[in-house]
Amino acid sequence: MSFEDYKKVIEEKYAAKDSSQMTARHKNFCLTNRSRGAKAMKILCDLEDVTSFNGERLLDIGCGHGGMTIEAAKLGMSAHGIDILSENIELAKINAQNDCNAVFLSGDFSFPGYSKHFEGETFDYIAVYDVVEHIYDIYTFLCNLRDVSTDNALIITTVPNQYGFNNIITEPHFGSPFATIIPKSFWPTLGYVSETTFHRSLGLYQALFASLEMPIEAVVCENYFSTKALQQYATPKLEKMKTIVSNIDKSKQEVVTPYLEWFFNQYQEDMEKNAVDPDYLYLKYFIDTICFYSRKTQKAETTIIKDFYQTSKTNKPFVLVESINYEQSANHLECEISVGEKLGENYTFAWYVFKVEKNSTKRIDIIWYTDSPSLSYTFKESGNYRIQFFIKQGEQLMYNFLPEDIHVP
Ligand SMILES: C[S@@+](CC[C@H](N)C(=O)[O-])C[C@H]1O[C@@H](n2cnc3c(N)ncnc32)[C@H](O)[C@@H]1O
Repeated sequence: MSFEDYKKVIEEKYAAKDSSQMTARHKNFCLTNRSRGAKAMKILCDLEDVTSFNGERLLDIGCGHGGMTIEAAKLGMSAHGIDILSENIELAKINAQNDCNAVFLSGDFSFPGYSKHFEGETFDYIAVYDVVEHIYDIYTFLCNLRDVSTDNALIITTVPNQYGFNNIITEPHFGSPFATIIPKSFWPTLGYVSETTFHRSLGLYQALFASLEMPIEAVVCENYFSTKALQQYATPKLEKMKTIVSNIDKSKQEVVTPYLEWFFNQYQEDMEKNAVDPDYLYLKYFIDTICFYSRKTQKAETTIIKDFYQTSKTNKPFVLVESINYEQSANHLECEISVGEKLGENYTFAWYVFKVEKNSTKRIDIIWYTDSPSLSYTFKESGNYRIQFFIKQGEQLMYNFLPEDIHVP
């Protein structure tokens, strides 16, 4: 009955909001988390030619309310879900209660070195469902992902297709027309303010995954006109697509420099032509969601894509955090964020302090409008604390967490 409890919480949450089209979409996205998870597991079972699992380990990154993690656990996997928002983790736990043994934890998977939290534990399957478009530093995210993957791990990713007609007309997160294909640097001028969405082409994902030796093995195009068509189109194609090796010409990576951005577009097109089933190119405007499978191979060496990516103008966020330094002595914390770009005059900073307890995470303090990215904080009582920081300019907002919780004795 736990999914019933979960549905009640969602109904209450959305009853309090207006019923705009986007809100209705979000609510529907929440309520379908289990069925989407079941569908994903069905495709995975088909791909692996099994009907259940025997303790294989799965990590669902950006698990949201846990649908995929739960369905994986119900099919016999040792399933773990991680999400940056602790409130999502609370809801995922309600969703899973009395139903399966899925494990849920909160954390920022795009944080440099985050993989060390797993202390060498690795996973046979990694699910990244509708998450990568929310990650700016996708390179660091993928490095963490690689670190927690066993050799030969299968990685399943879905992402909204930036060229999908429906997505071009109505951006899937905030509804603004053409946002998926207009460079992000123009968004503020147009009044588009969703800072945590970064649309990228399948070609770019192929380059990024391949540069970390996790080449894409198969592309399944979802929502080709309708779900029915998906079954008719994608499933029979799976076998054929499995044989399409993402044959990326490594020499071309050499020419991808920050100064030749136009060349990169050329490269992307080439890659799509070489590495993707030609039908994909023909169909790409009719697909809402792209689902692809990649597999971890040997040790990665290429960093050129990273250099390109971090200096690219097209998808740059307004500020990039380079390092976070903090020092604790007894109940006092000093913390300083260093940012990759020189900040102008109009930035503001804020900090949230959360108290982490066994069954809940509560915000206990807000420090608004500090004038530099630093915090000096004294905790009033012992316990475990989580610190979140925000950097804001105009409508633009960037936030992140300290990499580790603070323990106050
Ligand atoms: C569109 S939701 C998808 C949720 C879930 N995978 C599903 O399909 O129902 C994206 C999720 O990614 C999470 N997320 C975003 N950035 C993250 C990060 N850096 N680390 C972990 N989770 C993240 C969000 O909190 C959100 O729950």
